[in-house]
Amino acid sequence: MLRIMKQNARLCSNFTRGMKENAKKDPNTTFRIRPMRIEEIPQVVELVRPHHFHFPASALKFWHLQDRDGMRIAVTDSGQIIGSLCTVKNTENLYSTGSFCVHENYRHLDLGRKLIKETLSHYQVNPSILSDELPSGVAILPFQNSLLPAILEYDYSLIGYERRLVIEASCKEENGKTLVAMKDGKCVGLGSIKLNINEQGRIGPLYADYPSVAEALVKWLITAMPEAKGFAIVTINTNMFANMILDKLSIPVYKPLYRLYTKEGLHVDTEKVFAHLDVDFNSF
Ligand SMILES: CC(C)(COP(=O)(O)OP(=O)(O)OC[C@H]1O[C@@H](n2cnc3c(N)ncnc32)[C@H](O)[C@@H]1OP(=O)(O)O)[C@@H](O)C(=O)NCCC(=O)NCCS
Repeated sequence: MLRIMKQNARLCSNFTRGMKENAKKDPNTTFRIRPMRIEEIPQVVELVRPHHFHFPASALKFWHLQDRDGMRIAVTDSGQIIGSLCTVKNTENLYSTGSFCVHENYRHLDLGRKLIKETLSHYQVNPSILSDELPSGVAILPFQNSLLPAILEYDYSLIGYERRLVIEASCKEENGKTLVAMKDGKCVGLGSIKLNINEQGRIGPLYADYPSVAEALVKWLITAMPEAKGFAIVTINTNMFANMILDKLSIPVYKPLYRLYTKEGLHVDTEKVFAHLDVDFNSF
């Protein structure tokens, strides 16, 4: 075994010597990590070929069919694939990794670690590590029509304009679950999880007067949607507690988004907005 390993090491260094001469590290290269597309298999093969992997290209095709979301690649803005890591589902409780490779020019820049973090967190959203301790007098209830007036009053006080139709539709979404935090007959928090177009559980809206209520809502909402193939949420970067909840769950930031206003900004207490209702169609 040792002998084989030594041989491999020598082979590898021979292979890579030529590449090192061209190596040009650019720590400022921006890239994003996303699932590999089937037509990108030849590029991934080119990436890993010099590094002594032994799988046939058909293995990538096979696993792509079994577990597409587990096949992650890092892609630069210009479309070059510079890293890959596949963590695929063998059984309900067993996942195996393969094709872990970072292009020579981009090594030691944390890309390998980021690939690991991303693929593992994809499968390891574990809501049980979140707290569901509530402030005294607060109760979390499943949505029911009788709570709508309190919810609408809360939404108006937070967002600043009337959104009855949107909020009612959101609470009654057929592929979703909504929970309401109530205290002394008043709504103090609202959270929903909905199956998005990628069949992930997308949390939003998530509004709460207290960070502990938001955390409990996230815990219960994730638990309420076991069929989701992953998890998504759009938080506001200045809401520190919202982002702390995601840190606890080891959910990496996929992409920062920027908002542009043409006339004037909307002023909302973003410390109470833990997740956007739906960043594509709504202001908060
Ligand atoms: C392993 C690999 C994916 C790491 O990618 P990377 O983007 O450079 O990794 P990161 O920058 O996130 O982390 C680098 C750290 O990983 C560790 N590391 C990397 N390669 C290592 C190796 N061959 N042996 C032991 N540790 C290693 C070191 O601690 C390194 O820290 P340093 O940068 O302070 O030296 C990359 O070196 C690679 O593609 N190697 C060739 C293919 C390969 O061997 N794949 C693994 C097959 S299991």
